[in-house]
Order: sequence, then C-alpha cells, then structure tokens
Amino acid sequence: MKLPPTCLWRVAFTFYCLIALTSCSTQSRHRLLCVFFEGVDQTNAPPAVITEFGSPTNHSVNALASSRLPVAPIIHYHQPYEERKCLACHVSKQSQQLHAEGGELCLECHKHLIGDAKFIHVPVDDGKCLLCHNPHESTELFLLKRKGRAVCFDCHKLTKLLKVKEHTTMGEASCVSCHDPHRSNIKKLLKQPLP
Ligand code: HEC
Ligand code: HEC
Ligand code: HEC
Ligand code: HEC
Ligand code: HEC
Repeated sequence: MKLPPTCLWRVAFTFYCLIALTSCSTQSRHRLLCVFFEGVDQTNAPPAVITEFGSPTNHSVNALASSRLPVAPIIHYHQPYEERKCLACHVSKQSQQLHAEGGELCLECHKHLIGDAKFIHVPVDDGKCLLCHNPHESTELFLLKRKGRAVCFDCHKLTKLLKVKEHTTMGEASCVSCHDPHRSNIKKLLKQPLP
C-alpha cells in the first residue's frame, strides 16, 4: 500500500513526538505538546485549550502527563503566547528571530510601564526585561524568572542593603512592597515618599 506523502509526514512526526515525549523534561514536553496539538495546522486533532495546570485539556494527553507527573506545576502564561500570537514578537511562526530588540519589543505593548517617570531602574532603562522576566511562561507570578526577593538579590547583595537604615527593620518584607521594580517619580524607586 502506498501512503500519501502528508500521511507519511504525520506518521513520522507522531513518532518523533512520542520519542521526545518520553525522554524530555516537563517544560519541554509541555512545549512540544503545544506544538503538536496547536501548531500543526492541518490535523484533525481537537483544539487543545491550555489549562492553568499547564496541560492541554485533551484526555489522552492528560493521561500521559498524569502517569508521569504526580504534581504538575502551575504555569502562568504570557497572554500573547497563550493566544499563540507568535508573530507579535517573532518574524515568522518558524523563526526564533524577534522583530525588535530587548525592551523595545516589550514596550510596543507595555508603554505605560515607563511613561514619563522621573526615575527609571537601570536594567529597565537598558531594556533588559529578560533579566527578570521570561517571555513565554513562568511558574512564578508576573512571568518572573525567580521567586520573590531572589529576583532582586541577583544584583543587590543583602549585606550591602542592610547598610541602609530603612532596611535594617525590613525582615522578610518583599522589596516591591516599598520599591517599584521599573520606575517611579520618587527617588530610590520608592512607591511612597519617605515620611
Ligand atoms: C511577547 C513576545 C513573544 C511571543 C508572543 C512569543 N515569543 Fe517566543 N520568544 C520571545 C523572546 C523574547 C525570546 C528570546 C528568549 C531569550 O532570549 O531568552 C523567545 C524565544 C523563543 C524560542 C527559542 C527557545 C526559547 O524558548 O527560548 C522559541 C522556539 C520560541 N520563542 C517560540 C515561540 C512560539 C512558538 C510562540 C507562539 C506560540 C512564541 N514564541 C511567542 C518572545 C515571544
Ligand atoms: C503583543 C503585545 C505584547 C508584547 C510584545 C509583550 N507583551 Fe507582555 N503582556 C501583553 C498582554 C496583553 C498582557 C496581559 C495584560 C496585561 O497585564 O497588560 C501582558 C502581560 C505581561 C506581564 C504580566 C503577566 C502577569 O502574569 O500579570 C508581564 C510581566 C509581561 N507582559 C512582560 C512582557 C515582556 C518582558 C515582554 C517582552 C519580552 C512583553 N511582555 C511583550 C502583551 C504583550
Ligand atoms: C529588575 C527586575 C525587573 C526588570 C528588569 C523588569 N521587570 Fe517587570 N516586573 C518585575 C517585578 C518584580 C514585577 C512584579 C511586581 C509586583 O509584584 O508588584 C514586575 C511586573 C511587571 C509587569 C506586570 C505588572 C505591571 O506593573 O504592569 C509587567 C507588564 C512588566 N513587569 C513588564 C516589564 C517590561 C516590559 C520590562 C522591560 C522594559 C520589565 N518588566 C523589566 C521586575 C522587573
Ligand atoms: C540586573 C541587575 C538588577 C536587578 C535584578 C535589580 N536591580 Fe536594582 N539596580 C540595578 C542597578 C545597576 C542599579 C543602579 C546602581 C545601584 O544603585 O546599585 C539599581 C538601583 C536600584 C535602586 C536604587 C535606585 C536609585 O535611584 O538610586 C533600587 C531601589 C533598586 N535597584 C531596587 C531593586 C529591586 C526592588 C529589585 C528587584 C525587583 C532590583 N533592584 C533588581 C540593577 C539591578
Ligand atoms: C520597608 C520599605 C523597604 C523595603 C521592604 C525595601 N526597601 Fe530598599 N529602600 C527603602 C528606602 C526608604 C530607601 C531609601 C533610603 C534613602 O534614600 O536614604 C531604600 C533604598 C534602596 C536602595 C538604594 C540604596 C542606596 O545605597 O542608595 C536599593 C538598591 C534598595 N533599596 C533595594 C531594595 C531591595 C533589593 C529590597 C528587598 C530585599 C528592598 N530595597 C526592600 C525602603 C525599603
């Protein structure tokens, strides 16, 4: 029997995915599932909806995922990524190339973030959004790369911070309870003026 070429292609692709699914990490497995169920345009696969738990709501996929993952991490998705608007950032669906560099890309949709603020945090001013955020998804809120204060400790050492009077009594308080991570009209990126 001679299979039509598109059919052969699908068989090969399915095979590839099965191999990859059984061998790769949770995150890349999930990414692959997304590609498989949503990125392949001409399949009859039901449209998979990404749930809060990071697995497409497709029964066979959930069965596969739950048999290997006792606790699926909650993944938060960037809205344009979740809506599969890859072209909002990439030059084509197949390309990893971006149509703008660094912060410029992000500010196309997040202009309000800096506005005409008087003080801008140095890494934000440098357009280095990706030092703190992931572009697609994260297990942390606000697409952050790290948990809580660890985002700030990458560049600000606690020992040095504790030399500032206001920090000596902060305990475990979140940095962003007092500081804006991006910009402010008050010096030292404070959210509220010093009393
Ligand atoms: C909001 C902008 C944005 C959207 C929307 C977006 N991407 Fe990306 N993508 C990026 C950025 C920025 C990088 C570079 C990440 C880096 O350098 O660390 C990237 C990197 C990638 C990479 C390289 C590997 C990796 O994960 O770092 C792939 C593959 C990719 N994107 C695929 C996609 C696909 C598929 C979609 C649509 C479902 C998509 N992207 C939507 C911004 C975006
Ligand atoms: C095509 C438009 C678009 C681009 C480009 C874009 N974003 Fe977004 N982003 C959105 C939308 C829409 C939301 C959801 C609504 C909101 O919070 O403003 C969002 C939300 C976010 C959030 C909040 C997520 C949450 O869980 O509340 C972060 C952080 C973020 N974007 C970072 C970035 C970064 C970093 C880049 C550059 C790599 C970027 N965005 C580029 C459209 C965009
Ligand atoms: C120094 C780390 C850092 C950098 C650099 C950074 N962010 Fe953020 N961003 C944060 C943190 C922390 C939060 C969460 C704030 C909170 O918990 O209230 C956040 C929240 C956000 C949000 C959602 C809340 C809001 O204020 O609208 C968006 C959107 C966002 N960032 C976009 C960006 C973009 C775009 C850039 C680059 C121009 C950028 N960020 C650079 C740390 C950073
Ligand atoms: C990628 C490195 C980097 C990260 C991550 C980072 N910062 Fe900064 N931050 C800087 C640099 C560089 C400066 C300017 C030099 C200095 O004061 O150390 C600065 C300055 C500051 C200032 C003083 C601003 C001023 O006007 O003097 C505050 C407040 C601040 N950061 C808060 C934060 C908070 C809160 C976080 C976590 C959300 C954070 N930073 C994460 C690099 C970083
Ligand atoms: C209780 C509120 C509060 C918290 C929580 C807080 N800060 Fe501050 N921070 C301040 C104030 C107020 C100043 C300004 C002191 C001044 O101008 O004399 C400051 C100053 C700074 C500066 C500038 C230091 C300098 O030498 O000029 C940096 C950097 C900074 N904070 C980072 C952080 C980071 C990172 C965290 C989280 C680990 C954090 N802050 C938590 C209130 C706070």
